[in-house]
Amino acid sequence: MAAVGSAVGLGNIWRFPYICGKYGGGAFLIVYLLFVFLLGSVLMMSELVIGRRSRRTPISAYASLAPRRQRPLWIGFGVLCIITCFFILSQYLVLSGWTTGYVWHSVSGALASMGTDAGVIADFFRHFSTGGWSPVWFMVLFSILVLIVILGGVQKGVEMASKVLMPVLVLLILVLCVRSLTLPGSIRGVEYLFSPDFSKLTSEGILAALGQALFSLSVGMGVMVVYGSYLPADDRIFTTAMWITACDTLIALLAGLAVFPAVFSCGFDPAGGPGLVFCVLPNVFNTMGAAGAIFSVLFFLLLLVAALTSAISLLECLTACITDNGRLRRWQGAAIVFVLSTALGAVFTLSFSHLSGVKLAGLSLFDFIDRINSIYLPPLCALGTVLFFGWVMPEADIRAEFTNNGTVRLRLYGFIRFMARYVAPLALLVVIITGIGG
Ligand code: PFF
Repeated sequence: MAAVGSAVGLGNIWRFPYICGKYGGGAFLIVYLLFVFLLGSVLMMSELVIGRRSRRTPISAYASLAPRRQRPLWIGFGVLCIITCFFILSQYLVLSGWTTGYVWHSVSGALASMGTDAGVIADFFRHFSTGGWSPVWFMVLFSILVLIVILGGVQKGVEMASKVLMPVLVLLILVLCVRSLTLPGSIRGVEYLFSPDFSKLTSEGILAALGQALFSLSVGMGVMVVYGSYLPADDRIFTTAMWITACDTLIALLAGLAVFPAVFSCGFDPAGGPGLVFCVLPNVFNTMGAAGAIFSVLFFLLLLVAALTSAISLLECLTACITDNGRLRRWQGAAIVFVLSTALGAVFTLSFSHLSGVKLAGLSLFDFIDRINSIYLPPLCALGTVLFFGWVMPEADIRAEFTNNGTVRLRLYGFIRFMARYVAPLALLVVIITGIGG
């Protein structure tokens, strides 16, 4: 449940619908599903296997399973995964801060009072995101919530929060789907999502589909290695990985069904980009009259819950890593990660306002980190992980993990191994090279 909570996040509800809208709806969906089930699930299994076999965090997990000569290399790789995790968390906090702000503005009635003028609502978002310290305080509030859960420990904090929050999330998204699908003209949104138009699918769209598959499943940054290290010995890794993958995909599809029918029904552009959730949806809610205000609160709460369980996994991973050698206590590790990631998150948030003049490689700080976090670091970590899993880790260890030391059978083992050794590394190489070239 905690791993599903990690996978289901802003990536499913905020990012999936807008990327899907941008690259042609159904056609993108088919490519995305192929990547998720053929590559993403293999990566998920690899990370869970590496975590459970080593019972360590990424910094030492890879090295502890590698031949002695290669250990320094794999320690370096573990550190790269952790750096990736830290950058992802810092960027994630920016969007989570906005989400927290939108929960507040929907509860206070500010969003509902703006009517249905698309320009006014888009201006509100612009004012809010460029509003200096105000979005930073919302982000700090969000980070404190995450810290409280982490301080509660793995079972009383992370596990409890996931067990309560995930069912709430499913309930909220179902309510929103029903509302969206019963709006007049909503069928056009369903058609858009499910009828493929391949002419709109560019090579950039295919790259975006792979990036989205990795991000959405939380693979390629060590989080699933840490969650794998907490898995009981009798859990079946194949089944667990397929459940996480299926639940994550289902929630992304439900998010699409909550967003697109409403967007079409109210006559908005489905390719509205990153602002789809923050600019278009408040408008959609405001066209629904008094009930719209309630749906608006429900929607942003849903987004907040999704962001919380994902941020918890990122903070947990980093906390576990820096407390792994036993020198720091859990609360000390968590506090250090909290301070550093919130500080960097504040810098990225301020790159929309006070720090908008600061550029790296011609990009604002947020756009720069967004590029690093989508094209470079996670695909690189994912590539290292499948190479390790397919070519470095002893095969006997992998078999033992998949079969729970020979007590269960896995018919697909040969197929998974083939994917991990050949198909996944090749696909990731293509993405990395194309990403760097582009
Ligand atoms: N999978 C999360 C989402 O879809 O929002 C984001 C995420 C969480 C990425 C944790 C990576 C991670 F390690």
